[in-house]
Amino acid sequence: MLDLKEYGVDMWPEEKISSFREKLLNWYDENKRDLPWRRSKNPYHIWVSEIMLQQTRVDTVIPYYERFLNWFPTVESLANAPEERLLKAWEGLGYYSRVRNMQVAAQQIMADFGGQFPNTYEGISSLKGIGPYTAGAISSIAFNLPEPAVDGNVMRVLSRLFEVNHDIGVPSNRKIFQAMMEILIDPERPGDFNQALMDLGSDIEAPVNPRPEESPVKEFSAAYQNGTMDSYPIKEPKKKPLPIYLKALVVRNNRGQYLLEKNESEKLLAGFWHFPLIEVEEFSQEEEQLNLFAQVAEKSVTFGPTPQESFEQDYDLEVNWSHQVFDQVKHVFSHRKWHIQILAGQVTDSKQFDDREIRWVSPQEFSDYPFAKPQQKIWQAYKTVLEDEGRY
Ligand code: ADE
Repeated sequence: MLDLKEYGVDMWPEEKISSFREKLLNWYDENKRDLPWRRSKNPYHIWVSEIMLQQTRVDTVIPYYERFLNWFPTVESLANAPEERLLKAWEGLGYYSRVRNMQVAAQQIMADFGGQFPNTYEGISSLKGIGPYTAGAISSIAFNLPEPAVDGNVMRVLSRLFEVNHDIGVPSNRKIFQAMMEILIDPERPGDFNQALMDLGSDIEAPVNPRPEESPVKEFSAAYQNGTMDSYPIKEPKKKPLPIYLKALVVRNNRGQYLLEKNESEKLLAGFWHFPLIEVEEFSQEEEQLNLFAQVAEKSVTFGPTPQESFEQDYDLEVNWSHQVFDQVKHVFSHRKWHIQILAGQVTDSKQFDDREIRWVSPQEFSDYPFAKPQQKIWQAYKTVLEDEGRY
């Protein structure tokens, strides 16, 4: 067992711990958010909600959660889902490895656990994509096991309660908070205890504009009592994501269909369909300031082929490029920020592509193709201009 004193954490005596649990749980009983997954003890439901909630806000998750369980009501249906359907269910949520891992885990449950969701911390942890946080959340919420679920919210709340002088962004520091939670967690109601801290951390104890005077446990909080709330949690600012500059080629044929391509690579967004993208070094000053890339690119003074020329060569198409100007699309991934300029064009024949996963698709059929967030934004920006021109 980790010695918390070595990390400068002064754990409370037993009595104070008991009264903290009571205060927190009473507050939770009165104030807990009514969330769809809180009406269920089914471990499959809890698992789906916890994976979705890892990088996504509660309000966004709710409709995805409900649709996901409609489409895949059981572990077995998830294990057998076709990839396209799986990605469609997750479309727009991002971090798609989450849902791919879930399918692998569902297949593990079918193969190794006879289709029954494992009911021990070790069993749950053995599933693909389930780390200590998720294993703790499912164990405590679905099976009432006294396992902590330490996420960023919980670390922030604990940092303020105990004035923890360790950076919550450093992965190896997680063990400190895990050890604290093992002592603090209510053995009778571990799932509610974990969720009470999550609720506290996502609202009253939010990262910005917390309202500590409203906290049900403010008299337990060292930072509140000592006026050091602004100093906790300790967290180094994140590195800026790397900028990537791309041209998106939105090309339409004479039947009103658009050229879409499936991303076959194992990199970011594999399996999704997208408008062809060409990476460029950077956008020029003129392109950035005037957003007149269509015109600029035509009288390009750059060396080598323009993105349009590369595209025509690669896809063996002759395109009539438009002068329309679209809003730049931006999308932030965890380590990258995409800056995308749209180039629109038309072709007169609709050459079919036999060798690659490239298709002409009408907008009515887009719903059959998983689109990641950047593609949705590209389509919106494109459509907005056409709508303004009365052409859509
Ligand atoms: N965030 C992650 N898990 C959650 C849960 N069970 N309830 C509310 N917010 C959460």
